[in-house]
Formats: sequence, C-alpha cells, structure tokens
Amino acid sequence: MTVMNRNTAATAQAAAGAHTLQQRYQALLEGQHESSAAWLAAQLAGAAQLPDDLPDAPSRLPAWSAAHAAKVAAGYAEYLEQRRQGAPRRFFANRAHALWFLQQVAPTKAVDGAWLHSTLQHWRDPRFHGLIRTYLEELGNGDPRCNHVLIYQRLLGRLGCTEAMPLDDTRYLQGTLQLALGRHGDDYLPEVIGYNLGYEQPPLHLLITTYELAELGIDGQYFQLHVTIDNAASGHAQLSIQALRQLCPQHDRQAFYARVRCGYRLNDLGIAAPDLIRQFDLQAELFAALERKRVYGQFMHADRCRLQQRTINQWLAEPGAIPAFVGALQAQGWIRRGQSPADSRWWSLIDGPAAVMFGVFNAYEKQLWHDWIADDWRPHIRRVAPGSWGLPNAQGALSDSLAGDDPATLIERMAGNRHATPDGLLATRAYIRTTGLLQEEPR
Ligand SMILES: [Fe+2]
Ligand SMILES: [Fe+2]
Repeated sequence: MTVMNRNTAATAQAAAGAHTLQQRYQALLEGQHESSAAWLAAQLAGAAQLPDDLPDAPSRLPAWSAAHAAKVAAGYAEYLEQRRQGAPRRFFANRAHALWFLQQVAPTKAVDGAWLHSTLQHWRDPRFHGLIRTYLEELGNGDPRCNHVLIYQRLLGRLGCTEAMPLDDTRYLQGTLQLALGRHGDDYLPEVIGYNLGYEQPPLHLLITTYELAELGIDGQYFQLHVTIDNAASGHAQLSIQALRQLCPQHDRQAFYARVRCGYRLNDLGIAAPDLIRQFDLQAELFAALERKRVYGQFMHADRCRLQQRTINQWLAEPGAIPAFVGALQAQGWIRRGQSPADSRWWSLIDGPAAVMFGVFNAYEKQLWHDWIADDWRPHIRRVAPGSWGLPNAQGALSDSLAGDDPATLIERMAGNRHATPDGLLATRAYIRTTGLLQEEPR
C-alpha cells in the first residue's frame, strides 16, 4: 500500500530546512522537541493529500481488518507453496542481505511503540486501556527480556551489527514520526489512533521476513513476536480498532475519522519494506564498507605486503581504488569467487581467531565478504527456531518497591526515547502496579 515516491515531500523538506531527518530523530531521542510540533503538522498536511485504503465509515473497520488479514494469510500460503515447489527466497538472497535490512530499519525499531506514549496519562479512562496495553506490551511490561527495543538491540548485537552504518536520511523518517506523535499526542489523538491502526495490522512482508530469517540461521524472535502480538483477532490490530470506536466523539464522527485517516497515511511515508529490501546491492555494499575502512587501513600494513607490485598501503591510499584492489586480489588467486569462501586464501586472513587480520572486519562486513565470495555457491544453512530466547512470563521475577510513585513522573520516564533504559524499565513496572493495569496471568 506504499508508493515509493511518497517520501519526496519529506526528503525535500528535510533538505530545505535546517535539519536532516537524522538530526530531528537524534534531537527527539535526546528529549529535545522544540520544532517537532511544526514538523509533524507539515507531515500531516502532506499526508492529507494522499490516498488510503480505509473504508469510508469507521463501522466497517472490523470487516476491513478481517479482509486484510485474510489477504495476508492467502499471500503467505501462496509464498509457502512456491517455496515448497523450490522457488528461491523472495526477500533475502543471502545472509548479508538480511543483515543489511536489519540495520536499515534499526532507527524505526529503536523506538518501537513510541507513538503511543501520550496515552499513558489517561490511565484513569478505560477507553484508553487498549492503547495503553499496546504500549506496555511494546515495552515488555518493563521486563528487559520482553521490551521490543531491547529485543531488537540484542539481535543486532548478536549479529555484530552494532556499529552505526551510514543510512539514507529517509531511514529516519518513520522513527522521527513515531517519536513526534508520542510527544505531541495530546494535540493529535485522532492521528495517533490512525497511525496505530496502520502500524498494528500485520503485513505479509512481516511473515516472509520471519520465515526467511529463520532459514538464514538468524533468530527472528523480534519479527515472530509481532506476527503473534499484533494479530487481528485479539492482538494490537484488534485493540487499535476498539480504541477508535471508544474514543471517537458522537457529535463529530466525520471530522474525527478524517483526522484518523491522515494519521493512518503517515505509515505510507518513506519506503515500504519490500521496496527497501529490493534496493540491496551486495557488491556495492561490500565496496562501500571497504571504502569506509580504507581510510584507517592505509597506514597499517608493512611494505612487504604487496599486490601486483604495489604495497597494500599504496592501494588503500587512493580513494575509489577498492574495486581495482579487490580485482587484484582475484587476479592473484587470493579470492576465488563462486566457491566456498574457505577455499580463498583471503578468507583465511580475515576469518577465525588466529587469522592475521582478526578483528579488522566486523561481523556484518565479514558476511558481505563471505556472501560476495560465495556468489552462487550455497552453504548448508541451519534453520533456527524463531524466538529461541523465549518470552518468559517474568512479572514474578522482577520485584521493585516503587508502588505509590507519582504516575506523572513515571510516565515521563517511559517515553519512546527512554523506556528501554534500566530506569525506564523500572518506571514501567512501577506504572503498571500504580495504575492497576497489570494483565493477570491464568492460574
Ligand atoms: Fe513492537
Ligand atoms: Fe504491536
């Protein structure tokens, strides 16, 4: 439902103004939100011009959501059938491709749920309880094992993707929108409801991503979790429609719903996940990563290291020489593409604790090398069960003596930019106790 060129307005605005999206995002993460209200208003004005696929009357939303879920299920069944008949992976050609994608969407995942922050203060009003429940679940109810932001951070950490990779500025658009909606939600309740409505309907690409990550041996707990927790029957998708029904004022339904639709359309700003995934170019990513590293490597090699009569330092001193350098490694027989990387002398220099270049390349860069060398050669990949970290019920394991805290203070500490810190997690648990909003477990 997203069209690629919809981000042009946002990009042009970012370029024209004093701030890039990344700067806005960073400022909001640091709790500075001075110009974000005007920026959000401009984004919504842009979204007002866009089409959407919502029904004309909110009363038809349950049927709309059910039809969406059925379409996703049918699309997924078709995907699985294609795979059963031997079709290749639809999204990720190799592991490097998947790691690249996980880093591209990291700015959004790092603020998962942020758009709902302002609902917390309405804990006395039962009409808000569905949205608050959604937000608390994004926060893992204050349990670091279940906090979505932390689950994603751990995933990137395990994959060695912790160095910030330079990203296109538009990668910061959705995260900035989410933080801004969370900050200004009091003025934009219908828009928050609409954004939430769009974000919480599980899309087909989520199912395919989950499946293919597991196939590539990557723990997809984060994605698997959203397949289940956002479900349309009883999950966040269902709560999002219920919230709209309960909070839509009787006297002004049309105007309220028109604003809901604008908020919904904010989901379509920027690039849709499947289009983003298609942008990956393995060789270009490898060369770009080497170019970034080149600057540091040009003085690090002894002069006896030579390749085609030039020292390694001479090769690396020259901007843009990476493709020729890699070509020379191939010509010299140090890299044999299309075979197991273990057959390449170059790979033995960079991989393994005893390798002479141990630690020069991070896990992501090594994966780029690995997959570029392997090319069409396919390793045997082990499937991991999604969610091997598990989602324990941990309320009992974490006890804090903060009951009685002032909710307003707790709420401030649970904002989208703070809830994943130890203090934010503590505040979340105290908030749940203070407000009595803990979901009881069956016993
Ligand atoms: Fe989430
Ligand atoms: Fe959700």
